[in-house]
Amino acid sequence: MGDTQMKKIMVLNGPNLNLLGTREPETYGNLTLPEIGAMVKDHAKRQDLDVDFRQTNHEGTLVDWIQEAADEASGIILNAAAYTHTSVAIRDAIAAINTPVIEVHLSNVYAREEFRHHSFVSDKAAGVICGFGATGYVLALDAFASMLRAKL
Ligand code: DQA
Repeated sequence: MGDTQMKKIMVLNGPNLNLLGTREPETYGNLTLPEIGAMVKDHAKRQDLDVDFRQTNHEGTLVDWIQEAADEASGIILNAAAYTHTSVAIRDAIAAINTPVIEVHLSNVYAREEFRHHSFVSDKAAGVICGFGATGYVLALDAFASMLRAKL
């Protein structure tokens, strides 16, 4: 990647996050995913970062995108949603690449059902942010911005 090129952060969202806005708003808030995407992109501009914001309901597509990010992105912000708690394939994809991953959850998964307390992603991630709603994505972006600045 050339020095003059804007660094890219991929923001990958997993299953059912396309329903944000109407999905359990007491747990996930009222913002829609496109609204969160716009907020993150707006914040990225101020950090001189380029954001590629995506959502899929399919586990294999998340694996494909993580592999794609290995070549194209300086960091991945990943809300794998329910696959966080089930997917060895997503864990293996993260382990296979050098691009750092920040795991994000809108809700505080540790204050919820026990099956949400285990993540296949966390110990392969650079860090985890959960419980701050949509702000978590912005916090993750700030974390990447300072990590990337520290590397300059
Ligand atoms: C989630 C938490 C997961 O446990 C859940 O399956 C989701 C969303 C969150 O953002 O809080 O779909 O990742």
